[in-house]
Amino acid sequence: MASPGGAVGPPSPAVNGFRRLWQDLHDIGRSRDTGGYNRFAWTREDHDLREWFTAQCQQRGLDVTTDRMGNQWAWWGDPDAAVAAGDPGVVIGSHLDSVPDGGAFDGPLGVVGALAAIDHLRATGFTPTRPIGAVNFVDEEGARFGVACAGSRVITGVLGADRARGLTDRDGTSMAEAMRAAGRDPGTLGRDDETLARIGTFVELHVEQGRRLVDLGHAVGVGSDIWPHGRWRVDLPGEANHAGTTRLEDREDAMLGLAAMIIAARRAATQHGCVATVGKVNVVPGGVNAIASGATGWLDARGADADAVRRVVADVGAVVADFDGLVTQESWTPTTMFDPALAQQMAARLGGVPVIGTGAGHDAGILANDGIRTAMLFVRNPTGVSHSPDEWASADDCVAGVLALADVVSDLAGADAVRGDATDEQAEGPAA
Ligand code: GLV
Ligand code: MN
Ligand code: MN
Repeated sequence: MASPGGAVGPPSPAVNGFRRLWQDLHDIGRSRDTGGYNRFAWTREDHDLREWFTAQCQQRGLDVTTDRMGNQWAWWGDPDAAVAAGDPGVVIGSHLDSVPDGGAFDGPLGVVGALAAIDHLRATGFTPTRPIGAVNFVDEEGARFGVACAGSRVITGVLGADRARGLTDRDGTSMAEAMRAAGRDPGTLGRDDETLARIGTFVELHVEQGRRLVDLGHAVGVGSDIWPHGRWRVDLPGEANHAGTTRLEDREDAMLGLAAMIIAARRAATQHGCVATVGKVNVVPGGVNAIASGATGWLDARGADADAVRRVVADVGAVVADFDGLVTQESWTPTTMFDPALAQQMAARLGGVPVIGTGAGHDAGILANDGIRTAMLFVRNPTGVSHSPDEWASADDCVAGVLALADVVSDLAGADAVRGDATDEQAEGPAA
């Protein structure tokens, strides 16, 4: 297999470790029925993943710290000395949580890839001239408390501490309560300037969640931008009553508003050239033979143009108003540009790989919008499927991503370029 940069270096035993790292995570939060993953913030599974990350970092002699939100950072070198010298470090990593019944790659590829890249750099004798950090962001998907990228949003102050603490899951458990149950003090939440100052550059390795790299014939690509996107909660009122004895004309059925809202979202997205999704609903009381007294649907809307996304939400809002419903914005991420010069530098270094945009949100985007020099590397996804148990990437492509990451880090954190290639053993890595 050719390395992402086109150059072929010595086989690295450290990159061979990628498969072992990957296997460590295989069973954590995995559904026996679907093979998908359920790894939500501050649950048992999240705890196990965090413990795994800590143990792996400690085995490598990396100093592990947690920030005000509980994101985990591990450092090779002294990040504060670098800050004092005015030349902060290079951070790589991603997240280990998942959407409900999610895939194995979205997030873990970037965390496992960060550890494997560090192993590779070390095995090839690389000496960093800047500290290198590995991060595991907490609650990137927002699957439990509703706000995506909660870990990076809280430390950048985009998500306020009081609001974060008060977010609730389906069972009514607040984030503050969940954090306390997981042994963390929610009182620490807030913007974390000390942590942010340590990040000179952030590079997130991630599985592609589309088919651009397939079409372009590349195993690895560099990120250019993220579409503007947001989430809105839509509450629709109704009146509980008997399904058999209440005349149709006497009903206040919350489900009719919900149905109209879902259809309106699709129609408006088509009209304005966007995408819109209602993937989560809650119906009260939820009885087959009871008219719904309330219904909530969550609208996820995205597109290349922020004004067009806003028009989708406005159109949906107009329909919802006809049913006396209420639309509440839960999050909004504006158009996000990764550092264009860095993207070009990385693409050139990796042998002219494509620079592509995405409609998926990432912690990298939140950091970029906070003014941090940020980049992403994407690994080819043969089907493009993501947020599904069917999400997949080949072992060769994952290793190509790790090698690309190591190569980029060697460029950003030191004078010596490091390149490598996969061996046959590596090619047996993560499987379907
Ligand atoms: C995160 O994966 C998102 O784009 O919703
Ligand atoms: Mn995701
Ligand atoms: Mn992700």
